[in-house]
Amino acid sequence: MTYEKKLVIGLFGFGVVGEGIYRVLKQTPTLQAAIKRICIKHPDKKRNAPAELFTTDADLLLNDPEINVVVELIDDADAAWYIVSTSLGSGKAVVSANKKMIAAHLAELLQLQVDNRTSFLYEAAVCGSIPVIRNLEEYYDNDMLNSVTGIINGSTNYILTRMNEDGMAYDDALELAQELGFAETDPSLDVQGTDAANKLTIILNHAYGIISKPEDIMCKGITQLHPTDSVYAKEKGYSIKLVARANRVNHTDVAAYVLPTFVGPRSQLFNVRFEYNGVIIGTRLADEQFIYGKGAGRYPTSSAVLSDIAALRYGYKYEYKKARTGVNYQISTDHVLRIYVSCENMADINRLDFIAIDETYISQNRKYITGTISFDKLRKAAWLNNPDNSVIVFAEAGPAADHQLEELE
Ligand SMILES: NC(=O)c1ccc[n+]([C@@H]2O[C@H](COP(=O)([O-])OP(=O)(O)OC[C@H]3O[C@@H](n4cnc5c(N)ncnc54)[C@H](OP(=O)(O)O)[C@@H]3O)[C@@H](O)[C@H]2O)c1
Repeated sequence: MTYEKKLVIGLFGFGVVGEGIYRVLKQTPTLQAAIKRICIKHPDKKRNAPAELFTTDADLLLNDPEINVVVELIDDADAAWYIVSTSLGSGKAVVSANKKMIAAHLAELLQLQVDNRTSFLYEAAVCGSIPVIRNLEEYYDNDMLNSVTGIINGSTNYILTRMNEDGMAYDDALELAQELGFAETDPSLDVQGTDAANKLTIILNHAYGIISKPEDIMCKGITQLHPTDSVYAKEKGYSIKLVARANRVNHTDVAAYVLPTFVGPRSQLFNVRFEYNGVIIGTRLADEQFIYGKGAGRYPTSSAVLSDIAALRYGYKYEYKKARTGVNYQISTDHVLRIYVSCENMADINRLDFIAIDETYISQNRKYITGTISFDKLRKAAWLNNPDNSVIVFAEAGPAADHQLEELE
């Protein structure tokens, strides 16, 4: 549907992003989009907007036939699912930034869009201000995607930068990230890698047409990293980053994981610091391309929400073209990784799990082992989830392999 008339918006949430988009829209009159009502949770909070705009009654927005666009920016995934599914069900266009809700309900959301022929846009849900989804949907439509590799959680990148570059303790760096508004309301979503897995679930759909659940993605956050890991990284010239990666391992299978990763200076990700995000897109024809920007924060995230609202003026919808290529990609467990495992007690690590061991180091403080392991063995290894052990993957096992997929004539 193209909106000849004005976009009449029902806004849910008036927090970091909600208030941001309220302010931005006030300063963008040319867009012809006006917020009619704002639904929030706590009526007694002081708001920087006229009191008559606010309500705690969601149905007042959902049942208002004049509201043709719902912008959902709340921090409660269950309530967001009710808001978004009800809105799409009644034919309203929806813009959301809620990656947790979208990743959990991907299949149902795809169906709702088909059934109701309405737009559901969520650029802000993946890497804040960086247009990852729109690029995967539109630009990388024909050139075969070999891989998508990125730092897609600004909060953990901020924490790791502070720890690696300033020697800050983990707890202090996390507190600072929260103070600056980079961390999720529930920071465990960030530091355990769940937020990145939610985003990778969405990326997998737009890159390869895969409909998966975040639980299908192997995911390790940064909570098990040990200070000696940074010492190892510095000695070898690496930086430790939380990297999300999806790469084709053959013509039907895609490896997908979120893991702490040693990134070397030749990678574009090496210089992605603080709350910034960066995504390397590896393609068959164009080799590697890199997109970089702010992955969180009030105005960067509002910029993506604004872009989605503007796209509704010309009736833009995601077409989910990758699901219609005739290739049914699936998540693979049949590939190998080169990893480093550091531990308190070497007896914890079953060396027989490895295909090959490159290096073993034992000191009084800490021990480590590096080697090649099958992905399947790694994800099933009992020692992986022992809080005394940290696992970091070497990045170079990945991108170089992309080039071996197929030779061009
Ligand atoms: N912050 C970022 O940089 C960023 C970046 C990308 C994506 N996102 C996503 O954007 C969304 C919003 O994040 P945020 O940082 O703006 O959160 P936030 O600052 O914590 O604000 C959340 C807002 O949601 C409202 N709310 C919560 N439950 C509600 C309900 N059931 N009904 C109506 N309103 C409800 C709260 O109301 P009260 O004001 O009354 O408490 C508050 O205004 C989340 O999905 C987040 O993952 C955020």
